Amino acid sequence: MPSLLEMRKELSAARACTDHIFSLFTPEALYERPIPERHRVIFYVGHLEAFDWNQICRWSLGHSSFHRTFDSLFEAGIDPEVGSCPKDTPADWPSPEEVQEYNAQVREKVDLALEEAPDPIVQMAIEHRWMHAETTAYILHHVSSAGKQPPTLPQSPVCPSPKHSMIDISSGKVTLGQKGHDGFGWDNEFGEHQEEVTDFAISQYKVTNGQYRQFVEAGGPVSPFWVKRNHHWFLLTMFQEIPLPEDWPVYVSLKEARAYVEWAGLSLPTEAQYHRAAYGTPAGEERAYPWGNEASHGIHGNFNFHHWDPVPVTAHPQGDSAFGVSQLVGNGWEWTSTPFHPFDGFKPYATYPEYSSRFFDDDHFIVKGGSPTTASCLLRRSFRNWFRQGYPYAHAGFRCVKNFSRMFKKASSGVLGSLSCSRTVVRSARQIACGLAGDLFEHPVRNFVRPFWSSER
Ligand SMILES: [Fe+2]
Repeated sequence: MPSLLEMRKELSAARACTDHIFSLFTPEALYERPIPERHRVIFYVGHLEAFDWNQICRWSLGHSSFHRTFDSLFEAGIDPEVGSCPKDTPADWPSPEEVQEYNAQVREKVDLALEEAPDPIVQMAIEHRWMHAETTAYILHHVSSAGKQPPTLPQSPVCPSPKHSMIDISSGKVTLGQKGHDGFGWDNEFGEHQEEVTDFAISQYKVTNGQYRQFVEAGGPVSPFWVKRNHHWFLLTMFQEIPLPEDWPVYVSLKEARAYVEWAGLSLPTEAQYHRAAYGTPAGEERAYPWGNEASHGIHGNFNFHHWDPVPVTAHPQGDSAFGVSQLVGNGWEWTSTPFHPFDGFKPYATYPEYSSRFFDDDHFIVKGGSPTTASCLLRRSFRNWFRQGYPYAHAGFRCVKNFSRMFKKASSGVLGSLSCSRTVVRSARQIACGLAGDLFEHPVRNFVRPFWSSER
């Protein structure tokens, strides 16, 4: 666990970040609900301080409330099913001045209490704030241009176009979760255990807008971040509308990611496969990060708020995993096919019992990695994030996996059926997804003991 001084510094940095993001909303936009299934923005302005106050001062140290109404009003967020919108109106919420007055008092009291507060609770407050920095960023993404005030934007790096290929990942053991005495973790991270992963292949890069555009042109669903004008696709970035950057990763919900991999006759990685590709090595040992065991100082990926938007999938080759897979951390969360469930021995935190447990419903799926607005402290190997499978707002993309024993099992159903599936369509879809210049069916992939379209091994 970090020292008190380090935690004070981290809390101060997280507060500066969330203050900055809230300052980008116009005063009117604070009372909008840019994402129908989320609260109005003003809720989050009060929620971060209410969380710190409730967790640290009230529930851990037993301090008396100084504003019981706001402690309760700003206590918890919501996650209804897509389309189930709350019914409140702007007039139901307090003024910005009232919320800021509450926030200022909370910060003063929390700062005085940090020394006697339990370290895991302080760390929880810090990481909770960093998580909301990210969710507030993607809420800001969905505010109309009139409702936000763009900051100075960094230049996107110029990078070579990707040559798409699949990389063989040899079989091996992966470690999921953490033991509980390695430092802070959220309740769903504990219960460290190992899983055996059989050999598979994974796309070197995240699926790009350019690849996904070809799927859309074949009849696939459009990314929620795209808009078509005069027969040309444009991308809605955080603050602008730009011609579709073909080499940036596409952001979609799990439903669209599933449709794409099905079209290509491929699969999404499981959580364990993601771990093997990201943290595993051909020799068998595991790393803390894809690039090694040292935390990043910024050159290893697009995370920690250096950019608001994605960068090309070939940026940051220094962050490649031991197998040579790129950008497994940063530049967009990656959907897995693993539903969000607890590990054995799951025990919720006493002061925050609902953090994970209310999402173990088979409608939420694990995403791994991180986005441009994921803080460095959330990049640890055991960190697990999750979204509803149809959630179209998050900065999440995907990559494809070839499971050698399961090719073509699904090739006659789902979206393929609606896309006039034929062997030729599947073949060309795979070439787009895998980037093979020749015929994929003749591709000499190492480790294949049989042709991979066979359902038997
Ligand atoms: Fe929260």
